[in-house]
Amino acid sequence: MCGIFGVSGSSVASGATVLKGLKALEYRGYDSWGVAVRTARNDVFICKDVGKISQVHCDFPDGVEAFGHSRWATHGGVTKANAHPHVVGGVTLIHNGICENYRELKEKYPTTYASETDTEVMASLLAAHFATGKTPEECMMQMAKEVEGRYAVLAFFEGRPGICAARKGSPLIIGRGEHETYIASDIPAFLPYTKNVNYLDDNEMVRVVGAEVEFLNLQSGKAIDKRTIAVPWEAEDATKGDHPHFMIKEIREQKSTIASAINQSNDKLKAAAKMMKEAKGVYAIACGTANKAAMAGEYFFANIAGRKVNVVPASEMSSFLQFVREGTLLLAVSQSGETADVMEVLEIGKNKGAKILAMTNVESSSMARMADVHLPLQTGPEKAVASTKAATAQMAILFLLAYADAGRVNEGRELLSATAGAINDMLNPRFEERIEAISKKLAKHENMFIIGRNTLYPMALEASIKIQEVSYVHAQGFAAGELKHGPIALITEGAPVLVLGDDPETLSNAMEVKSRGAWVIGVSCIHSEVFDEWIRVPDCDEAQCISTVIPVQILSYHMAVERGLDPDQPRNLAKSVTVK
Ligand code: F6R
Repeated sequence: MCGIFGVSGSSVASGATVLKGLKALEYRGYDSWGVAVRTARNDVFICKDVGKISQVHCDFPDGVEAFGHSRWATHGGVTKANAHPHVVGGVTLIHNGICENYRELKEKYPTTYASETDTEVMASLLAAHFATGKTPEECMMQMAKEVEGRYAVLAFFEGRPGICAARKGSPLIIGRGEHETYIASDIPAFLPYTKNVNYLDDNEMVRVVGAEVEFLNLQSGKAIDKRTIAVPWEAEDATKGDHPHFMIKEIREQKSTIASAINQSNDKLKAAAKMMKEAKGVYAIACGTANKAAMAGEYFFANIAGRKVNVVPASEMSSFLQFVREGTLLLAVSQSGETADVMEVLEIGKNKGAKILAMTNVESSSMARMADVHLPLQTGPEKAVASTKAATAQMAILFLLAYADAGRVNEGRELLSATAGAINDMLNPRFEERIEAISKKLAKHENMFIIGRNTLYPMALEASIKIQEVSYVHAQGFAAGELKHGPIALITEGAPVLVLGDDPETLSNAMEVKSRGAWVIGVSCIHSEVFDEWIRVPDCDEAQCISTVIPVQILSYHMAVERGLDPDQPRNLAKSVTVK
């Protein structure tokens, strides 16, 4: 949610470097963009606009430092004036996050506001303190005292070399080059230049001037020692390679990502299973697709370990927070590990003495770092906005954990290894072609329905998210048995219904819609005469939902392409939702 990229060091601090970095972060927001380049003579050149970064044409001067921002609008519409950077007095600022008390601060720090953003208010606050003679670091500390909310900010202070950055609640990572330093919301932005990183924690700031880096506590101003860590990613992991879009690349990567996901350390799995056993109640907290993976987990724990896990969308937790107390286990399921709604529940829970078990795809994420135990998804970077390989990895780990909880972890591993192998075989060009052909017909419809039972019920809900977000077709998922309690009234002649599974009850439900004229597409291991079209998936036993959701991902991808849309960057969305 908003991408930030900065670089200090005269040999590389160009507008072009920033644009390349921002392009790698565009999945975080792509409403508008902006770049600031500071020259050796201390002039700041700004170029910004609405639209995607590929449309950029700016003549940037040579710089000694530069930063840029790609925006997902929160305060203020998508306009050039609202695009970052914002300049007030001697301060140039970019920001990812949300300043909750911006109205009050706007009155306290009046200026001729040129935008409707909360960021310009933060720039005004910094500029006011800078004008009184405070150092850039003191200004940042003052900002931390006064601003309520979450932020990752980068700033130039007039006449003071270097970039100042601070973090509270939104990610910032420092990339250490030989003669230069990078600062970004995510590692792929500087991966072509360096793999050596420092993770900035909440309530920390950093000042970088070329290769010189100084970390300070944002409250006390005291210096902090940071370990430099080499990340295990290759630059190619974060590129599309030969694939037309990240989404299809990431779908295809599921040939191997299930196997990587289940390659969890036995000690960590044991510790996680112990937490489940000792917990005074378990709440699985997640949003969107991750919430549907958690719902599949609810079935795994019930079916395999006889355990009740309460799955609540993070944004709906407020009524249930009263039940979170010392000894409760909060199971956070997230690709990014930064989603604000989940973070808020975890922060409240932690203060009440709850334990945290997190599953995220980013080892350095806020959730991973606040967790008592973190199980990494290990799928490599996921850049398409629609989550695919991370979702199946989440389900695989939840499945393994349910088996660990039942004291049969080896059995769980064997089942998942067989599932990983079957998915590897399933994901071949012929399989994709078959689904593409069906998607061409489906793409002509404006409404469709998906049904499933047991673990395939959350997959019906997940299918509806996937199809809606990338193809903009209205798709609705139902528990197969619920259809006849109301939604069946929506079925008219030719209405597409995707039926997940081949158990007798679901096939009866499929028959009920077929007799009312529905066009029935089955996704199952065994063919049935009720299906007008059939997508065959391998039999993966209790892990069936993992293999069944993949053709639906492929279907939604091709529906989007067929409708002339960019599946990687659906409208109004951004990856990693760091606002509530
Ligand atoms: C949909 C999708 C979103 C995310 C949700 C949570 O394809 O990707 O629904 O699943 O925003 O994000 P994370 O997993 O990063 O917490």
